[in-house]
Amino acid sequence: MPPERPLLETPDPRYQILVTDDGSRSLQDLILNESYHSGSGAAAESYVVYLRNSAVVDLLAAERDTRIFEYGFGTGMNFLMTAALAEARNAPLYFESWEYRLLPKEVLQLLNLPEAIRAAQQLGWLTECGEHAEMIWNRFLHFRTSLDSNQHGSCVFDVAPNITLNLMLGDATSVQSHGYAKPFDAVYFDAFSPQTNPDLWTNEVLSTAYKMLRPSGKLTTYCVNSYVRKLMTECGFKVSKGPGPPKGKREVMIASKESDTI
Ligand SMILES: C[S@@+](CC[C@H](N)C(=O)[O-])C[C@H]1O[C@@H](n2cnc3c(N)ncnc32)[C@H](O)[C@@H]1O
Repeated sequence: MPPERPLLETPDPRYQILVTDDGSRSLQDLILNESYHSGSGAAAESYVVYLRNSAVVDLLAAERDTRIFEYGFGTGMNFLMTAALAEARNAPLYFESWEYRLLPKEVLQLLNLPEAIRAAQQLGWLTECGEHAEMIWNRFLHFRTSLDSNQHGSCVFDVAPNITLNLMLGDATSVQSHGYAKPFDAVYFDAFSPQTNPDLWTNEVLSTAYKMLRPSGKLTTYCVNSYVRKLMTECGFKVSKGPGPPKGKREVMIASKESDTI
């Protein structure tokens, strides 16, 4: 039996808040019957699977100009953690994230994502990021208010003079690698599961992600089953299993673009 976790209603009957085991909040989509994060810890999953396993934490620590491409903006937790870390480290960041179902502002507000940063801090991560996260999140909610639910295309949120979120409202299956002059350092592949979201777990989509990465760049995701490993390998990635978050999945996926495969 999966553990019983606290659930909270939201003003939108489609979504309910899930309080995950590290204290951070995530969402459940009651129509798709999918969770946005693992119940064993949303903040831990975001940090370990995406920021840490992709080496983005190291790039930002080295104050490197960092470019990230995300499939599935969702609650914005991956974005918030990454942007807060970039600001704390004074590292330039371009973060492009695709989303075709923007969450209502009222639902986002209830997630109280700065709490997720505090949950990460309790685990010893993002210790310098608290105030940055609070400020970025409040400004993001304001930015969200300026978007309407039928909006499409690029919506730019200037987090700071050298930190940009390009929220692309549209279907990520339409992404074309030749649309990008500069390669990305990391791809956060944060789609729902291959069962619920098969359109994104395809050779076509993953080959595009591969082409968009720079040599040695990494695509990370939580799913590491044999079907996904085979798919990634067929697209040219060198696939390895990285450590999952504490108390969560034991192993998660790190798919690297080997320098000599370009
Ligand atoms: C697991 S959630 C993402 C969690 C998110 N990264 C976060 O930090 O909260 C998956 C997201 O992918 C979006 N999505 C699924 N298929 C998509 C597609 N083809 N194009 C754009 N967004 C898609 C869903 O609407 C959902 O918001």
